[in-house]
This record gives sequence, C-alpha cells and structure tokens, in this order.
Amino acid sequence: MTLTSQNQSAVPAPARPATAGAPRPVPSGRLAQIRTFHPRRGRLSARHLDALDRLWPRYGLTVPPELTSVGSTGSNPGNTGTAPGNARTSAEDAGTGQAGSVSSGAGWLDLVELFGRRAPVVLEIGSGMGDATVAMAAADPSRDYLAVEVHTPGIANLLALTEQHGLTNVRIAQGDALDLVRHLLLPDRLDAVHVFFPDPWPKPRHHKRRLVQPAHVALLRSRLVTGGILHCATDWPEYAESMRDTLTADPELENVFPGYAPRPAHRPVTKFERRGTAAGRPILDLVFRRYRKPVAGPDDRPA
Ligand SMILES: C[S@@+](CC[C@H](N)C(=O)[O-])C[C@H]1O[C@@H](n2cnc3c(N)ncnc32)[C@H](O)[C@@H]1O
Repeated sequence: MTLTSQNQSAVPAPARPATAGAPRPVPSGRLAQIRTFHPRRGRLSARHLDALDRLWPRYGLTVPPELTSVGSTGSNPGNTGTAPGNARTSAEDAGTGQAGSVSSGAGWLDLVELFGRRAPVVLEIGSGMGDATVAMAAADPSRDYLAVEVHTPGIANLLALTEQHGLTNVRIAQGDALDLVRHLLLPDRLDAVHVFFPDPWPKPRHHKRRLVQPAHVALLRSRLVTGGILHCATDWPEYAESMRDTLTADPELENVFPGYAPRPAHRPVTKFERRGTAAGRPILDLVFRRYRKPVAGPDDRPA
C-alpha cells in the first residue's frame, strides 16, 4: 500500500489494495502504549485460513507494530498533518522494499489508492467478526469502509464475508486503530468513525484502557471532515454516560441529538448488541458531528 506525504493524490489510482503478508497477532506485552483491546487467541477455521491466504493481499493492510513501540498513550491529537515519526517497516529495515508494506516513515495512507476511487470513507474501529461492516458497506455503496481490528479470526471472517457479498468498498486493517489513525491517516479525511460496542473495561482501574476517552476522541475527531460523524454505541450504561460526557466536552464536536440518539436502523444488530439486550441492558447510541468554530477575521473586530 502506497503512502503519500502530501495530500491524497489528485488522480484516482486503479484499485490495487495490495499489502504485505498475512495478518500476524498484534504484540501487546512489550509495548508501552496502553492497549484498548484484550489480547486473545482464536482458532482459525479452514474457511478463515483460506480467506486469509487468498483475500488478504486484495483487501488487507497491516498497521506495522513498529509504529507502536515508541510508547504513546494516545495523547497526540494535535498531530495535524506533518509527516509522522521515523518508524520503518521491517521490510524497509531489511532493505527489501517489499511492495505493500505500510510505513509511517514513507508518509500517510493514500485512501484514494487504497479503494481505487475517491469517495467518502467510513472508519470502523473494532469491527469484530465484521457482520456490521459488511451489512453497512453493502447498503451504502457510495462510501468506502475501512475496518480496523486486531483479532485475526474476526479479520478472516470479514475477508470471507467481503468476498461472499462481492463488495468492492471494504478494506481491512490489522493493528491498533489508534496507531492507524495517529500515524497513517491524515486529518480532515474521514466521513465517519464508527465505534460499536467497544470493550467496556468496567473496572475503574481499567478505565484507562477505554477507547472512548478525551485524548482518543480528540484524535479521532481531528481525522473527520467538517460535518463528519463520530458514532458510538454501547450496552454498558456507565460507559455510555462517560462517552456522552467525553464527546460533549470535546471542543469541536456537537451532539446531533439531544442526549442519546434513537437507535439508527442502519446500524446492524451484532452479537454484542444481542448479548446486551438479553442481559437486560439498554443499547445506547451517541451520534456527534464535527464542527469548526468560526475563526474571527479582521472584520469581526469590535469597532
Ligand atoms: C466488544 S467487540 C465489538 C465488535 C463489533 N464492533 C461488534 O459490535 O460486534 C470490540 C472489538 O474491538 C476490538 N478493538 C478494541 N480496541 C481496538 C483497537 N485499538 N484497535 C482495533 N481493534 C480494537 C477488539 O479486538 C474487539 O474485537
């Protein structure tokens, strides 16, 4: 996957979402960054292995773990478009120049090249088994969906579903979404960010692992276009409240609804929503829009 250090290329490139290698488990222990996901192993069925083998080069991209070893806690929302740090892919380090490697050292992810067209892009963080991604992408062909997940069986499942449904507007990144957003996505690019049923991390000592927290929200918001949507859903009322407060406090987000949003029909029901409902928990959606405070110009000065 080619990255650009400039704005996305003016001329749409032909579809060529090639990347290096099949997904590898994302290391967690040695990294300084606080992780928002549970390290877990999952068994890969023959169908999943086949999907990884055949479809990863077509739809997949790896967020290099090298990006993450510099130990940030996600508090870099002010990253506004200059080239990120000097992380390099192992391919570069090995001097192989392997095509398809993703490197922050080379610049930013070119979304036009990734999808082979210029269209609004929706980022789905923590796509799980991918059922929601596929249903939404199928129902919304004019936008492109970039799903990011760490869990290999989920990625394999999404690859298989993407092929099964003949979708051309889905790509799948493996790695930490926060690294992808921070190091590989330019500001002001995304039409929407979806965070559906993020791990709730209910114990107070684990709250620092939550995906929806002020610094992460500021980072995600910075990648939205003006008018872009940050949509979160959870079945965990205490987390929902904290999400609502965090999103409300962000200086460049406004709530599209007063309080919680009505459940949007376009958000498919997944295992996590069914599980929450079965346990008697409410399902709470929050839909916030990025807006820009008008900058005072010389004519706005008081006379
Ligand atoms: C509770 S599951 C929900 C999955 C899916 N959204 C759904 O509703 O079925 C949360 C998912 O987010 C993923 N996740 C958590 N933090 C992540 C991160 N920083 N980057 C990528 N994926 C992450 C986890 O691996 C897990 O699969």
